Amino acid sequence: MDRIFGFAGGDSGSWKVDSLRAVRGEPLTPVARLSVVEPGMAYPAGARWLLRGVMSNERYVTHEERSGLRAVQEGLGRPASVSGAMIPIRKNPAWWELAQDERRAIMEEQSKHIRTGLRYLPAISRRLYHSRDLGETFDFITWFEFAPADAEAFEELVAALRASEEWRYVERETDFRMSLG
Ligand code: HEM
Repeated sequence: MDRIFGFAGGDSGSWKVDSLRAVRGEPLTPVARLSVVEPGMAYPAGARWLLRGVMSNERYVTHEERSGLRAVQEGLGRPASVSGAMIPIRKNPAWWELAQDERRAIMEEQSKHIRTGLRYLPAISRRLYHSRDLGETFDFITWFEFAPADAEAFEELVAALRASEEWRYVERETDFRMSLG
């Protein structure tokens, strides 16, 4: 069964691209709109580029963290969440050389990714897609939805993560801000 989600940049799609910024590394070609292609659906004609990812099992969360997240997080597609962000990310070879326990320690004990992120729930809803094992140029596609009133909080969260130890391993990152309609 096809489990692959597509993210097609071009002139069509329900998300309007308001801004696009190459935070690190090569930028993606600017596009006007973004279309999320659910597994099994046809890709839109005329897309300038296409990113692909799958929803996968979690790698790093502890049982307690998972329970904490599930107690407060909300799903995508909330009517008030008309603002979105898509941030594809690639980490460097040094990250992938680390053992699982070392990556977990950098992500949480040193960088507090989960603990920090939790403070922004349920205002921000999120989904992580894995791309690395599909042979894509990015390792992850991260997706966020929120109400326009929470845009500033989202900015603060992104800034905190980018200043963390974990982000020293990020070698390519492009930040798309979008709105529905
Ligand atoms: C909204 C609050 C957030 C929460 C609660 C959160 C939580 C998490 C959790 C629990 C994981 C680990 C999943 C696992 O166990 O495999 C994760 C992974 C990840 N998150 Fe976040 N996150 C948030 C925001 C962000 C933001 C704003 C970004 C990007 C700027 C981001 C980028 C990533 C990436 C790239 C990964 C994969 C890391 C890896 O596997 O090496 N997250 N996040």
